[in-house]
Amino acid sequence: MLDGMKDILLIGGTGKTGRRIVRHLESAGQQVRTASRSSGFDLDDPGTWAPALDGVIAAYVVEPDLRPGVNRQERIPRLVTEAVEAGVRRLVLLSAHDVGKFDDDHPLKSAEHAVRGSGVGWTILRPTWFSQNFSEAFWLPGIKHGTLSLPTGDGRTPFVDAEDIAEVAASALTEDRHDGQEYQLAGPRAISFGEAVDLIGRATGRTIRHLDVDPDGYVEHQVANGVPRDVARLLTGLLVSVREGRAAALSDGVERALGRPARPFEEYVTEAAAAGAFG
Ligand SMILES: NC(=O)c1ccc[n+]([C@@H]2O[C@H](COP(=O)([O-])OP(=O)(O)OC[C@H]3O[C@@H](n4cnc5c(N)ncnc54)[C@H](OP(=O)(O)O)[C@@H]3O)[C@@H](O)[C@H]2O)c1
Repeated sequence: MLDGMKDILLIGGTGKTGRRIVRHLESAGQQVRTASRSSGFDLDDPGTWAPALDGVIAAYVVEPDLRPGVNRQERIPRLVTEAVEAGVRRLVLLSAHDVGKFDDDHPLKSAEHAVRGSGVGWTILRPTWFSQNFSEAFWLPGIKHGTLSLPTGDGRTPFVDAEDIAEVAASALTEDRHDGQEYQLAGPRAISFGEAVDLIGRATGRTIRHLDVDPDGYVEHQVANGVPRDVARLLTGLLVSVREGRAAALSDGVERALGRPARPFEEYVTEAAAAGAFG
């Protein structure tokens, strides 16, 4: 254990993974602080970083911006440098399962590089698609509407529960055994979007269908709804990987990190439906 008198900083601590990590750490008696724009910390404004980093022993690092090539490659490396200078001894980075397929100018690539070369303890988390995208993020409007239109065909992918990501992160922020580990985090079974929405429909007593759509049309649809074109292309490319069966592989990161299997998608659906999370 590191010095328990110092705080653990969660960048993006109000997001899907961050707020769950807060819960895990606080219930373990850790002192936690969150940093995001709503609390005056902005990754785009290094002038806001020093107060957040002061007195911090370990930090969870999220790069919320998916846009490639918008000069965002430098902000996480700079933050890592400043964190280490401020005394942070351990870094846990939320990356993504498919980071190897991204272009070299993707911010998560430079973030991984910076964390590996930081000179302090580090752990990299590489999750697949979050289950919580159905209840807390971009797929929720389709779920509410009853039709989730995505260019994924019958392709399957092992959605990972953000609860598992958070538990791995909380453990990595507080225990030495995760130092130098890169965890591919996936659910226990690859599931098609058709089956996923069917499970959600059964749990909520509604009819929800997955509509397969043309990838190019999907890009245009997102752009028409205000998504920047490069983000729309990136997201569509990842969904096409599912469609083409290139995102179905399972991985053992949750089990390796926590010594227990990943939570089944069905368990997530039951809990989220009981909490009214599908609207
Ligand atoms: N969703 C998926 O299926 C998936 C799969 C694999 C990897 N990922 C990765 O997960 C990461 C996102 O993590 P998440 O889902 O836990 O977060 P999230 O739910 O997307 O929330 C983003 C968090 O970052 C904060 N934030 C946004 N812009 C900021 C800025 N300029 N400065 C400081 N804080 C900022 C937000 O709070 P404020 O609004 O208050 O700033 C919020 O706390 C991304 O890197 C993504 O690539 C996601």
